[in-house]
Amino acid sequence: MRKSNERILKGLAALLAVFTAVSCVDEKIVERIVEVERELFQTPSEAAAGMLGYTDIETKLTVCGNCHVGPQSKWATTAHADAWEGLQSSGHAQEFCEGCHTVNELGNTLTELAGYNATGEDRYHDVQCESCHGPGLEHVTSPEDANIPLAPIATGVDNTQGCGECHQGAHHPFVEQWENSGHGTLNSYPAGRDGCNGCHEAGGVLARWGETAPYLEQGELQPQTCAVCHDPHGSPNPAQLRFPIGGVEIEQNLCSQCHNRRTVPEEGFHGLHPHSPETALLNGEAGFFFPGSGIDLEPGRIIASHGSSGNERLCATCHVVFTTVNDAATGEFLFESVGHGFKAIPCLDQDGIPTSEDCELSTDTRSFEGCTGAGCHTSVEGVFSALTTATSRFQDQVTTLHDLLVQVDPNLEGVGGEIDPNNPVITTAEGAYFNMELAAFGGSNRPSVGLTYAGAAAHNPFLVEQLLRASINAVVAEYNLSPPVGLDMGLVLGKGLN
Ligand code: HEC
Ligand code: HEC
Ligand code: HEC
Ligand code: HEC
Ligand code: HEC
Ligand code: HEC
Ligand code: HEC
Ligand code: HEC
Repeated sequence: MRKSNERILKGLAALLAVFTAVSCVDEKIVERIVEVERELFQTPSEAAAGMLGYTDIETKLTVCGNCHVGPQSKWATTAHADAWEGLQSSGHAQEFCEGCHTVNELGNTLTELAGYNATGEDRYHDVQCESCHGPGLEHVTSPEDANIPLAPIATGVDNTQGCGECHQGAHHPFVEQWENSGHGTLNSYPAGRDGCNGCHEAGGVLARWGETAPYLEQGELQPQTCAVCHDPHGSPNPAQLRFPIGGVEIEQNLCSQCHNRRTVPEEGFHGLHPHSPETALLNGEAGFFFPGSGIDLEPGRIIASHGSSGNERLCATCHVVFTTVNDAATGEFLFESVGHGFKAIPCLDQDGIPTSEDCELSTDTRSFEGCTGAGCHTSVEGVFSALTTATSRFQDQVTTLHDLLVQVDPNLEGVGGEIDPNNPVITTAEGAYFNMELAAFGGSNRPSVGLTYAGAAAHNPFLVEQLLRASINAVVAEYNLSPPVGLDMGLVLGKGLN
């Protein structure tokens, strides 16, 4: 018997003792240990730096998978388990392609050549457990010691670990785009706070979702990394996502797990500011509806077509858009944009590549691929004109409403007066104030700071228009103000009403 196997059996005996003492994580681990007869692996060469790879290449049984049957069976269904064959059958396989399609120092904490890159052996084909977890030799030979190979959830363009070590470059620039997105940036104000972590910090999010598996950076604050949205071991959803992006009620979709915070006014500091209201906007439920005022507006009645089953990928249709950018002059491939900047209508650089920068709203400066690519809108001009028509109507109405609210309470949301977030009763003026902010909501842009209405105009123009009209009517009636002149105040319920 090989030396490594003697050690394993010794380790396994110790393990059994551990298992009978502590209740087992994965009962099948024990079964496997009891029936283990054949060798789990051949001693790897020095150069492999402790990486083990497959026990059985044919059946894709990883060494780790002998004991961790849960992760093994999930992982076997992912594209990672077919990465070598995908490369070979592409007809373009070359040596320099192999690093990202095999087990080696990419993805984990190793920085020197290891696994496939050091040995070229077949057992290291595909993106296996150790690609993320790092070398398993020590853990497998003495699992009773604390040598557990934990995987990182951190990633970044300059990191020498994490998904981004492979998911980068012009053909799949996930990490480059993600790093510059709102998800790739840790907001140091909410991060680390109870009540905020559940959406704003990776570890807090995973804990809220009941994912308690240990990882390398336990306790460190991380933004919304790849492993927040994607289950590293696989899932029944497309692209290993932890939640579906479509085919479900909108509240169940991935994005809505976080983008659904303060959608109606609440008592207290910030209570009159919407906080990520996108889900409820699409669903016709965001905003203050003036209950009992006789204004004919009810939650859930005006669902935008963008939030209906007609839009299968929901948020992702507009915010996760894949586009190939070719050189305008030569037609040659330049860049595969993978939509991981999460911008719906991103600004373009001089080559036509989406960026994370801001720019004016025009058809020259921005990509409208998300609107036209899915086959919903046929022309960029058409969709641009719909967007700017809605935004300029909102702008007029918000200006009117703002002027009325200043008459009601000159210091607006400052302490005291009709608009006072610390007063538990939501007044008509407060409801109207919230609706005004909702119309102008787009990340950090609020009426007091600068105006952008494109988000609300895309998410649910019909609802927002009705909320603004109702707000103006209610404020005029409640506070005996003179009705605004020159503004079309008839209640027009547009298409999308259902
Ligand atoms: C011989 C069986 C065996 C093999 C093979 C094995 N492990 Fe483990 N592993 C265990 C046991 C048993 C534990 C639990 C140890 C403990 O909790 O103290 C464990 C724990 C872990 C944990 C922590 C789990 C948790 O919830 O705390 C990770 C991660 C892990 N192993 C990864 C791996 C990886 C990666 C490989 C392959 C390189 C591997 N294991 C191979 C038996 C094995
Ligand atoms: C920097 C790491 C890296 C290198 C180098 C690399 N790939 Fe990949 N490859 C990836 C990643 C990551 C994916 C999956 C990304 C995606 O789905 O967009 C992938 C996916 C693929 C796929 C599957 C695509 C599909 O549609 O299923 C093929 C085929 C492929 N690569 C071939 C190649 C070839 C050929 C080369 C060399 C010319 C190469 N790769 C070099 C990282 C790499
Ligand atoms: C693409 C990266 C990646 C691959 C491939 C991967 N893991 Fe993991 N694994 C992680 C990360 C990240 C965590 C911790 C966070 C989480 O589960 O989301 C983890 C957690 C674990 C845990 C802890 C508890 C649990 O059951 O989730 C075990 C055990 C484990 N992995 C074993 C494996 C085995 C066995 C394989 C191969 C069959 C594997 N992993 C493949 C990244 C990966
Ligand atoms: C060692 C390189 C490597 C690492 C590390 C890695 N990947 Fe991959 N990943 C690939 C390759 C290569 C493919 C494409 C395989 C194919 O289609 O043949 C892929 C495919 C995928 C796919 C499926 C794409 C599809 O077309 O459905 C997802 C999702 C994914 N990876 C996410 C992740 C996440 C999340 C992590 C980190 C937790 C990660 N990967 C770490 C190389 C890697
Ligand atoms: C906020 C959630 C979120 C985060 C964070 C995220 N992704 Fe994704 N990812 C998605 C969604 C949504 C899709 C689209 C799935 C679809 O349309 O089928 C996707 C698709 C993918 C795919 C499949 C692409 C294909 O060709 O089908 C890969 C690979 C991937 N992501 C890798 C990554 C990596 C690597 C990171 C971190 C750098 C990352 N993702 C971060 C949500 C996320
Ligand atoms: C785990 C929680 C979570 C999930 C899931 C999530 N997001 Fe986010 N999202 C956030 C947080 C937190 C921010 C950044 C907030 C900040 O500015 O600090 C953010 C930022 C954004 C931004 C940029 C906002 C800005 O002002 O720049 C967009 C757009 C976005 N998310 C869309 C999506 C889409 C689309 C999905 C689904 C594919 C999604 N998000 C899934 C939590 C999440
Ligand atoms: C239910 C999930 C969730 C919770 C809980 C949450 N947030 Fe957020 N927050 C988000 C999302 C998603 C965004 C992205 C902003 C957007 O929609 O534009 C965001 C954005 C922000 C922003 C940036 C907004 C801006 O105007 O620039 C700040 C600051 C913020 N949140 C603070 C907090 C604080 C402080 C807490 C805890 C008291 C908290 N958040 C709790 C989901 C949440
Ligand atoms: C019909 C397309 C569409 C759908 C569907 C959609 N959005 Fe948007 N979203 C937009 C547009 C357009 C903007 C304005 C972008 C701008 O001003 O640059 C926007 C703005 C945003 C913003 C403000 C930050 C930013 O990038 O300006 C967030 C956050 C956001 N959307 C999240 C979501 C979420 C979460 C969903 C699903 C519940 C969703 N969106 C559904 C088109 C859409």
